[in-house]
Amino acid sequence: MESFFVVGGRSLRGEVEIDPAKNSLLPILAGCILVKGEVCLENVPKYSDVMAMIKILEHLGGKVKFERGKFSNDNLIIDTRDIVYCDVPNELASCVRSSIFTLGPILGRKKIAKVAYPGGCDIGLRPVDIHISLLKQLGCKVIDKNGYIYGDASKRREGDVMLSFPSVGATENAMMFAVLGHGQVRIFNPAREPEIVDLQNFLNSCGAKISGAGSNLIVIDGVKRLHGCRYRAISDRIEAGTFMIAGAMTGEKVVIKNVIPEHNQALLSKLSKTACKIDVRDDTIIVERGGRLQSFGEVETAVYPGFPTDLQAPMCSLASICEGYSLVIESLFESRYKHIGELLKMNCDIRCKNGVCIIKGRDKIYGAEVSSPDLRGGVCLVLAGLVAEGYTTINNIELIDRGYFRLEDKLTSLGGDIKRIKCEKKVDNCS
Ligand code: EPZ
Repeated sequence: MESFFVVGGRSLRGEVEIDPAKNSLLPILAGCILVKGEVCLENVPKYSDVMAMIKILEHLGGKVKFERGKFSNDNLIIDTRDIVYCDVPNELASCVRSSIFTLGPILGRKKIAKVAYPGGCDIGLRPVDIHISLLKQLGCKVIDKNGYIYGDASKRREGDVMLSFPSVGATENAMMFAVLGHGQVRIFNPAREPEIVDLQNFLNSCGAKISGAGSNLIVIDGVKRLHGCRYRAISDRIEAGTFMIAGAMTGEKVVIKNVIPEHNQALLSKLSKTACKIDVRDDTIIVERGGRLQSFGEVETAVYPGFPTDLQAPMCSLASICEGYSLVIESLFESRYKHIGELLKMNCDIRCKNGVCIIKGRDKIYGAEVSSPDLRGGVCLVLAGLVAEGYTTINNIELIDRGYFRLEDKLTSLGGDIKRIKCEKKVDNCS
C-alpha cells in the first residue's frame, strides 16, 4: 500500500508539462488489436491503466515494449501482427474500464470474442448494455453470461447504429468494430469528446476511413486491413484541468504547458468567476490565485462540451475554500460522490442531497488522514491537502496512479510539499 503525505500551505509556482491523455491512449491501445503491423505511440506515460491494457494486448499475443524516445516519457512499440487469442479473462479485464474497449476490435479482427466484464473506478453501476446493443444492431450475436460477454460477428452487417446515450466507450467500441470490413457504418448520437476525435485520427493514420468524430454523426467505410503508424495522443485535458484548479487554489503563478485550451472551455469559464487570474496563450495556460477566491456558482457535469465529470471532484476541493456557496451536481455517474465523505474529515462544509452538493467555502480547512475513493476523488484530496492547515495523509493512492503519472514529482517541482510513502501493513485495520 502507498500513500501521499502532503504538508499544506505551500504556494505553487513554476512550469508543468501536461502528459498525453489517458482516455485517448486506452482506446488507442485497444485499436492496436486491429492493426497488422507495428505501431509506435510516442511519449506514453506509465499510467497504471495503460500498463493494464498492455497486459491485455500481450495476453492476446501482441508484443509490447517501451523504448527511449525524444520525449519526457518513453515511446511504446506495439506489434499485433501475431494476435491469435480472442479472450480477455476476468483477472485482466476487471482491472480497468477500458478492457471493454477490446470487444469491438477483437470481433472486428477475429470475428469471435469472449471478454470479461470490465473494472474501473467505483463511481456508479457502469453497465455495458449500450456496448452490447450496438454490436447487436450490426448483426453480431452477443451472449452476456457468467460475467463474460461472448460475441460472434460472422454475420455482421453494415448499416446505422443508434446509441441510446452518447457513451464515450460505446462510441469507441462501435468505431473500432466497424473499421475492418465491407460497406458503411454510421453511428448516430455518438459521444463527441476530444478523445473520440483522437481515436479517429489514430485509426485513419493506420489506413482506416472514418469521418465525423466530434460531431453528431460518425461515418466509417470498412477497409480490408490496417497498417502500422507512428502516433502521439492529444494532451490530457483532465490533467490540465487538475493543474489549473491547483493553480487557482494555491498558485502564485502556475504555467501549464502542452495544453489544448479549447478542450477546457467549460472549466475556464467557471474559473474566471472565482477571481483567480487566467492567461491563455496558444498551448499554455497561466493561472494564479490572486487573493480571496469567490464561488464559481454552480457546476453541473455533462457530456462534452459540457463540464467534464472527471473534474467534478477537484471542483469540490476548490469550492471548499471559495467565499460563498457553490453548487456541484454530478449528472453522469450516480455515485461519484465518495470524495465528499473524505473532504468532511478535513473540515469542509458540504451537504449532499439527491445528487446535489451544497458547498460553503471556509477560510481554513485542516489536514487529516483520508482515503482515495477513486481516481479523481483521490486527486481532489491531494488538492485539498495542498491548501489545508497541517498535513494530510492520502491512502490508496494506487487509484490516483491510474490516471496521473509522477503526480508528486510534478507538484514538488512547483513547490508543493508532497511525498509518496510506503505503508507496510494494510491501512484498513478493520479487516
Ligand atoms: C469514459 O468512461 C472515461 N474513461 C471516464 O473517465 C469518463 O468519466 C467517462 O467516459 C465520461 O466522460 C475512459 O475513457 C477510459 P460512458 P466510460 O460510457 O466510457 C452510462 C476517468 O476518471 N453507460 O460515457 O465508461 C454510464 O454508466 C474516467 O478518467 C450505460 O448506462 O463512460 C454512465 O452513467 C472515469 N451503459 C454514462 O453512461 C453503457 O453501456 C457515461 O458513461 C455505457 C455507459
